[in-house]
Amino acid sequence: MHDQFEHKQQAWSARFSEPVSALVQRYTASVGFDKRLAPFDIAGSIAHATMLAERGIIGGDDLAAIERGMAQIRADIDAGRFDWKLELEDVHLNIEARLTQLIGDAGKRLHTGRSRNDQVATDIRLWLRDAVDQTIAQLQALQRALVALASDHADTLMPGFTHLQVAQPVSFGHHLLAYVEMFARDVERLRDCRKRVNRLPLGAAALAGTTFPIDRVRVAQLLGFDDVCQNSLDAVSDRDFAIEFNAAAALVMIHVSRMSEELVLWMSPAFGFIDLADRFCTGSSIMPQKKNPDVPELARGKTGRVAGHLTSLLMLMKGQPLAYNKDNQEDKEPLFDTADTVLDTLRIFTDMVGGIRVKAEAMERSALQGYSTATDLADYLVKKGLPFRDAHETVARAVRFAVERGVGLEDIALADLRGFSALIGDDAPQALRLQGSVAARDHVGGTAPGQVRAQVARWRDLLGTE
Ligand code: ARG
Repeated sequence: MHDQFEHKQQAWSARFSEPVSALVQRYTASVGFDKRLAPFDIAGSIAHATMLAERGIIGGDDLAAIERGMAQIRADIDAGRFDWKLELEDVHLNIEARLTQLIGDAGKRLHTGRSRNDQVATDIRLWLRDAVDQTIAQLQALQRALVALASDHADTLMPGFTHLQVAQPVSFGHHLLAYVEMFARDVERLRDCRKRVNRLPLGAAALAGTTFPIDRVRVAQLLGFDDVCQNSLDAVSDRDFAIEFNAAAALVMIHVSRMSEELVLWMSPAFGFIDLADRFCTGSSIMPQKKNPDVPELARGKTGRVAGHLTSLLMLMKGQPLAYNKDNQEDKEPLFDTADTVLDTLRIFTDMVGGIRVKAEAMERSALQGYSTATDLADYLVKKGLPFRDAHETVARAVRFAVERGVGLEDIALADLRGFSALIGDDAPQALRLQGSVAARDHVGGTAPGQVRAQVARWRDLLGTE
C-alpha cells in the first residue's frame, strides 16, 4: 500500500505502521527554515562526538570519520550542493542521514547519549549567541555614526519639543546623543541576555539525562558556553533566552522607530531640518516633486513586526507542560526574522545617519518661533529675586502680549517689557537669545554645547574608533 522505501527514511519510522500524509509531512517539517542552523548543528555534533570519544563511549576511529564526514557536509552546504529533504523533517535528521550515507556506522553512533531535544536547544543558543554579538557590534557602529554627527553639531540649535510644541532650544548634537543613550541601554540588555543564552543544554538528552558517562562541562568548554544548564527538564524546554532576546530587539526597534518618526518629520518641507541622501528615498509615480523617506518609514513599520514576534514567542510558551513539546519548533521563524530585521535595520541606519545633511539655518529659524526662551526670561526674573511662580505668571503675560501682536518676545521694546516687571533690566534681551539659553544649561546632562562636546568625548572613549 505504502512505499516502504520512503517510509523507511524517517529515523523513527520503525515503530509506525503507516507513513504520514504529504500534508502532515509538510506541516511538521522544519527543514525549510531550520537549515540555517546547519553550521551550529555541525559544531555541536563535533563537540558531542569529541566528548564521546574522550570518554570511550565511541571509538577514536568513529570520531575521525564523523569529523571527515561533517567537513564534507559543511563544504556541500556552503557550496549550495547539499540535498535537503523534506521527508527528513529537519536540519538535524538531514545532516545525520547524510553523515551515515557518507561514513556508515560511525554516523549512526553520533546520536548516542543525545536527543534532538537537547540538540536543537543547543543549536539555537549557538546561533543566537552569534546573532547577539552581531547586533551589539552593529548597535555600536550606529552609535559611532550618531556621535560623529553630534560632534559636528554641538553648536547647531534647534527647537526642543514637548507635546510636539516648541518648548526650549536645544543643541542638535544633544538631541542626537539622546539616541546614543537609548542604544547604549540596548547594548547593556543584550549583554545581559547573552549570559543566559550562553548555557549548554546538551546532555539533557530527551528530558531526563542519559545513562552514558558523559562530560557536559567538556562539551560546554569546546563550544564556548559559560556554563551547563543545571536541570535536564528545564534545559530542553526553556526558551526564555529567545524571549529575552526578542524583547531586547523589540526595544531596539522602538528606539529606531522613534528616530524614524523624527527623520520623517524633519525631512518634511514643513520642518525642513534635514535632507536624507537620495539612496534612502524614493520618488512618487504621480507627483514629480516628491522625495519620500521610505527607509525610516519602513523601519517604523517593521517595528510592529518585531514586537509581534515577541508576542508570538510569549504565547508559544504559555501553557506548555514540561518538558519538550513540538510547539517549540515554532520558535525559529519569529526569532530568525527578528534578528534579520534588526540587523538589516541597524546596518541601513548606520549608513543613513552618516549621510544626513543638516539644514542648520532652518532649525535655528524654527527655534526662534514659539517663544522657546520664555523660561529663560522667567529664570532671569528669579535670579533678580522674584519667586518662580510669580516669574512664570509675569512672562506668561508678556507672551500673551507678544502673541496678540504676532511678534516674538525679543521684538518687544525694552520699555514695554519693563511694563510687566520692574526687575527687567538692560540685560534681559540677552536672556532671550537662543545661544544664551542653551549655553546656560551647563551641567551634566544639560544641552550646553560644552556639555555636548564633553559627552561626545566620553562616547568616543567608550566606543573606540572601531
Ligand atoms: N525540529 C525540531 C524543533 O525544531 C527538533 C526537535 C524535535 N524533537 C522531537 N522530539 N520531535 O524543535
